[in-house]
Amino acid sequence: MMEKIPSNADKAIKEVISQRKTTKVLAEAPWSPTLTPEAQHSLINSLLELASSAPYHYKSAERYKRGDLTSTLPFRAYTLNANNCRKLADQLHEVQPPAGKIMNMLWAAEAMIVMSWLPDVFGEQPEVREMEPLPFTGNLRNMEHIAAASAAIQNILLGATAAGHPSYWSSGGTLRQKEARTLLGIPMDEIFLGCLFVFPEDALERGADVKLGKLRTEGKELSSWSKSIEL
Ligand SMILES: Cc1cc2nc3c(=O)[nH]c(=O)nc-3n(C[C@H](O)[C@H](O)[C@H](O)COP(=O)(O)O)c2cc1C
Repeated sequence: MMEKIPSNADKAIKEVISQRKTTKVLAEAPWSPTLTPEAQHSLINSLLELASSAPYHYKSAERYKRGDLTSTLPFRAYTLNANNCRKLADQLHEVQPPAGKIMNMLWAAEAMIVMSWLPDVFGEQPEVREMEPLPFTGNLRNMEHIAAASAAIQNILLGATAAGHPSYWSSGGTLRQKEARTLLGIPMDEIFLGCLFVFPEDALERGADVKLGKLRTEGKELSSWSKSIEL
């Protein structure tokens, strides 16, 4: 039986969904986080809990059970608190290709969550990879692995929005390349789906440059992308 949902939840969830928007916060120098390390930890864990509530269809392959990461979920999450975001930014000075705006966002972020998805692969695989396994096999299972990982990501972004944190889904830029991946210790056979930046609640009051998503309003007219089927 489904637990009873509070009567005002409908309004609240609609508000959170419509409030979520790409908000790239570009700090000019490393910021002091707003939250304590304990509060950052609890924020990150609450977002991960939301991610793990997303629907998923197929288990990931056995090959991705490594160390403590033994879940059959078709994605993985790697989390950095504010201090580790700043440390990563320091280490990225030496890394190619240049980090660009990722650096400014690592200076501002309260947390970053890297979400990768775990492709089904076929045939012999290289022992050492320079690149992610791209292009991947375009079958239904892989499509649904990505769909599941995307649903998990959206849950994270909505959770961050509900908690008052501006957020940004980045493809990752330099972070998905070998040099940064080695720093982060994220295996190259996983495919990055998003580097999720979670900024402090007071980010917009701190006077940093803030950029919104370019496509925020494009293509939104319902009749331009949906059609009612009458039989
Ligand atoms: C899979 C995915 C990857 C994205 N990667 C980037 C990115 O690398 N750089 C960027 O500026 N925006 C990126 N975005 C954010 C989009 O630009 C943004 O969602 C879009 O402009 C709509 O704005 P909104 O999120 O405010 O609705 C990405 C979004 C998705 C779904």
